Formats: sequence, C-alpha cells, structure tokens
Amino acid sequence: MRTIFWENNAVKLIDQRKLPDSFEILTCRTVNELGEAIRTLAIRGAPALEAAGGYGVALSAFERDFSDENELREHMKGRADYLASTRPTAVNLFVGIERVMNSALKGKSVEEIREIALKEAQRIADEDVERNMKMGEIGAELFEDGDSVLTICNTGSLATVYWGTALGVIRSAVEKGIELKVFACETRPLNQGSRLTTWELIQDGIDVTLIIDSMAGIVMQRGMVNKVIVGADRIVRDAVFNKIGTYTLSVLAKAHGIPFYVAAPKTTFDWEKFSQEVVIEERSREELIYCHTKCGKTLIAPKNVKVYNPAFDRTPLENVAAVVTEHGLIYPPYSENVPKILGL
Ligand code: MRU
Repeated sequence: MRTIFWENNAVKLIDQRKLPDSFEILTCRTVNELGEAIRTLAIRGAPALEAAGGYGVALSAFERDFSDENELREHMKGRADYLASTRPTAVNLFVGIERVMNSALKGKSVEEIREIALKEAQRIADEDVERNMKMGEIGAELFEDGDSVLTICNTGSLATVYWGTALGVIRSAVEKGIELKVFACETRPLNQGSRLTTWELIQDGIDVTLIIDSMAGIVMQRGMVNKVIVGADRIVRDAVFNKIGTYTLSVLAKAHGIPFYVAAPKTTFDWEKFSQEVVIEERSREELIYCHTKCGKTLIAPKNVKVYNPAFDRTPLENVAAVVTEHGLIYPPYSENVPKILGL
C-alpha cells in the first residue's frame, strides 16, 4: 500500500504517529491539515515529503471555489509558502512543491490548473516508486550472504511513497535471495527506528534486531554488524544531512573499518549548496522531557531542564563509502562523480 495517495479530492496518508500501536489512514481535506500532518510527522521521510509537497499544492487548488484563475494562482502561492515552512531540512519537500507549482501555474483556467497540478503530483508519487525499485536493484549488489547491516531512522515504504531508499535496498537484496540481518537503531526521540523500521521489516519477514542508539558502538566492536546503510534528507557538496545520530554512526563505522553507505534519489541532492546553507530543524523540548503514550504523557526529565533537540546532523562526505541512487552507485571523489552520474 502507498504511504500517501489522492482520493476524492483529499490527500490520504498512513498516520505514522500511531504506528505500530494502530494502523490508521488520515484524511487531509485542507492544506492546513496536511501541513499539520507534516509538522507533527504523521507523514515524514524525505521522498514521502516530496510527494506530500506535490499533493499539498494540488490540494490547495481543490480546497475551495475560486472566482477565476488569478485568484486561484494567488491562493496556491500562499499555500505553497505555508507548506514550505512546515519542515526545513529535507530538500525533497521543496522539490515537490516547486515542481507542481511550476507546472500548474501555466494552466489557463481554474479547471486546467487543477488538472495539471493533480497530474504532476501523481507523477511525483509514481516516479518515487519507480526510482526506489531501481535504487533497490542497484544497491543490492553492495550486499552478500551473511551481511549484518546497521541502519537508523526509517527509510522504508513509510519514508517514501512505497518500498524505500536504504530500507528499500535491504528489501531488494533480501528479495534477490541474499541472507541479511538488520540492526535497527531506535532513533530517539521520535523512535522512527523502533516504531516504523522494525514494524516494516517484521511484516516482510526480514531478520531485525532493535538496539538503542547508544548501542551502535558495541555492536560494531563485537563484530555484530559489518555494513551500515542510511537514507538522506539533503546531500550537499560536502555532506549528507540525515536523522540525528547518523554522523555518530559514520564516525563509529570509520573507526571500525565498516563501509558506510547512503541511499537517496537524485532529488535529495542539493548540489549547488554547501553545509553552512542548510538549516537543521530543531524540534520542541517536549519530545525529550516527556514519554508520550496514548494514555497521556509522563515526565522523564525535570520540567525545567535545558534541552537541545536538533532533528538532523551533518555527515561529511569523506565518511561515505558510496551513495546508491537510481542512476547508479556513486563512489568518491564525489565532486567528480556526482556531476558525472547525476548530471548535476
Ligand atoms: O524526521 P524524519 O523522520 O522525517 O527523518 C527522516 C530521515 O532522516 C530519513 O533518514 C530520511 O528522510 C531519508 S528517508 C528515505
């Protein structure tokens, strides 16, 4: 099933805040509802945000009536700005928004703008599935029987429209008959690893072991993992931005002589930029000081403690052994090979 889709003039998505406790589909009939779903991580993961951005722009054209195409265009611009303000780090969100805006604004009537916007948003979603399957096919060759792979966050079907990036590569490798074990970091504070990655892998019958984030060192030291693969929210000239803890894994992998791979589609590359230009999202103190359950929240730190809660970190490209893309494997030197393989 797709993580996000269009049905009856609404955007529907798997509500990832509820997993694995319950599986629920959230219906967003307005851009505000979708924006809130993005901000609160009901939908998350860079490629899924690309689709959400695209569908969000399309939704803005359907959420009410418009007297003419100019009024609609103005409304869409405002809604696109709002969608772009929901999360700052994953470049894919902006890619999805811009792509649909650029196509739709060429429409000459309300009807035409709506039709173009929806078609383009659907195309983004369809292309994501295709490129993930391609990445899986290409990345699977990095693995062999008996490998034990460490990963962080969720980079599976739930982080994309379907299949996944890093987890998609693992999935494809297993589908090809390669015997793999996966170690999943729980990924504090929102637990995308324990709640979502293990849930996806168990459903697929893939051998997965959950560890807390600070156990990454011991599993490497004891030879329990021999490869690391992660996703990316943005890849710039000198670094990969991904879920907080990714940098730590890359340093540990280097110290233990373990290859550290990244899997990401071309749209995650923001190759014009350098690290200083990327905004790392900082999230609320609530995420750290409370344990949230469906019965409510319990304090797990003094209420007045100082908190620092960046959601992503920066891994220098020199720590990355190869990047899996839908256009092929990219090895260092990245300054030469990224433009060569991706045409950027
Ligand atoms: O805060 P999240 O859950 O949106 O963070 C997601 C990640 O960091 C993923 O690793 C990244 O988006 C790649 S997903 C295929």
